[in-house]
Amino acid sequence: MNSNNITKQVFTIQKSDRRRQKKHTSFVIWLTGYSGAGKSTLANGIDRRLFEKNIHSYVLDGDNVRHGLNGDLQFSDADRKENIRRVGEVSKLFVDAGIVIIAAFISPFREDRDEVRKIISPDRFIELFVDTSVQECERRDTKGLYQKARNGEVKNFPGISTEFERPLNAEITVNTENQTVEETIDYIMTQIESHLEIK
Ligand code: ADX
Repeated sequence: MNSNNITKQVFTIQKSDRRRQKKHTSFVIWLTGYSGAGKSTLANGIDRRLFEKNIHSYVLDGDNVRHGLNGDLQFSDADRKENIRRVGEVSKLFVDAGIVIIAAFISPFREDRDEVRKIISPDRFIELFVDTSVQECERRDTKGLYQKARNGEVKNFPGISTEFERPLNAEITVNTENQTVEETIDYIMTQIESHLEIK
């Protein structure tokens, strides 16, 4: 790490001050799952519900972040790791700023997700496994990427040409195959309620 000659500055307004101002705690809801599992749809729905409750939230999404901050990264294991590391660090800043972050990334590697959990602090990190089977994601193929992965136009595609490591201890697991989006969001909202500590 290039942190020689760099001193950490201490600023007056603390995380606790920001939480008092915003009247809620801040943390990260980390959605992981195959491409096409429904992560972005659920992230959008959670964000909307939180917004309606006057909670300051923000979505970080793989497709969007890869157009900007992480536009230099591809889909090798190393680039995926760096993608998740940067998003973890950005999420940490948002949590410090008092914002609830909803992060939607395939994040196929357990080790990378665990690393983010450490960066953020385990009590501020909720892993949400969007457990839609790869067969169902391929059937939906909303972006046509499974087809491309099958015929080799797209490389390193989780579930087809690279592994997706299922979470072992996700705080929340949802299966989108047998319930509606709104039902799934209802369930997620009941699960995160205890973390919110609305004041
Ligand atoms: S991650 O694996 O590094 O976590 P991330 O969630 O940021 O992936 O980005 C995934 C998005 O990039 C997918 O929703 C898809 O639209 C697009 N994409 C393009 N190529 C690939 C690929 N080889 N594997 C997975 N997603 C891809």
